[in-house]
Amino acid sequence: MSPIPATSPTPPCAELHLHLEGTLEVPMVLELADRNGIRLPTPDEDALRRRYAFTDLASFLALYYENTAVLRTAADFAALTGAYLRRASEAGVLHAEVMFDPQAHVARGVPLGAVVEGVAAALEEGGREFGISTGLFAAFLRDRPATEAHAVLDELLALDAPITGVGLDSAELGYPPSLFADVFARARALGLHRIAHAGEEGPAGYIVGALDLLHAERIDHGIRCLEDPALVARLAAERIPLTVCPLSNVRLHAVPELAAHPLPGMLAQGLNVSVNSDDPAYFGGYVDDNFRAVAAQFSLGAAELARLALNSVESSFVPAERSRELAGAVEAWRAAQGQ
Ligand code: ADE
Ligand code: ZN
Repeated sequence: MSPIPATSPTPPCAELHLHLEGTLEVPMVLELADRNGIRLPTPDEDALRRRYAFTDLASFLALYYENTAVLRTAADFAALTGAYLRRASEAGVLHAEVMFDPQAHVARGVPLGAVVEGVAAALEEGGREFGISTGLFAAFLRDRPATEAHAVLDELLALDAPITGVGLDSAELGYPPSLFADVFARARALGLHRIAHAGEEGPAGYIVGALDLLHAERIDHGIRCLEDPALVARLAAERIPLTVCPLSNVRLHAVPELAAHPLPGMLAQGLNVSVNSDDPAYFGGYVDDNFRAVAAQFSLGAAELARLALNSVESSFVPAERSRELAGAVEAWRAAQGQ
């Protein structure tokens, strides 16, 4: 990858596509492994870092799930979440809707209550400290049976977990949205918001399925929508949000290089696209790094960066008053850039 100029200013924004487990930086992996007495498959830091050269989504997910083994207690999840909010505030994030993978922890014998307790406490405390409003999504693993997703939802309800909604992630190809129609219908009936990964590695038809079968209100990634002109027209007409993660797409070879990323084409077609970091500890940067990378690659000016940031505000699930506040901050940033 070509180096990204560190100087471009980046706008304040809402971050809408962020996996908390994907913010687990190597130093924290090593520190928590030590604290929790866990023997890592790759305990040497340099050797571990060498494993971050991914070939596709599956090769990344293997390491991502392996590293989550160091997260055991509510305090671990609070430390993870607090570190993300600190870095996000430096990146200009004013509102963060973050997701976590309950099944990745329950399957290892970690009580869901401990996960939720740690994450929720840190969101509240970090939100106060950094002035970031937050939302929390529980993501179902699509390569696990739907029965597990139902059980997770049951447990989240029993815990009265403070979730904004549910999501769908993990290995995409071969696991279409239709498998999760029932559990998403339950979430919808409960008044929960719905987001879903679709069109990252999977075909445009998975985006259609996420909209029609899961009633997803936001699509995570969605970059393969461009393969279906009728879908593009629908996404544009309905202003359906697509949470795009450029550095992630490069690192997972969803696109051959940043220069080939469809972001400019998506903007040109009037799509509601925002910029996000996905799993920043794994893909070379937080949301500001993603903004700088696309600004440099596609010669985007302050007006275009502000458009992307306003899209993120519009696509968030914040109340109207907070939305106006966030949009005002983006407009003020644009004015300060002289655009
Ligand atoms: N889980 C964490 N990151 C993911 C991604 N980029 N796609 C699907 N599942 C994920
Ligand atoms: Zn993701």
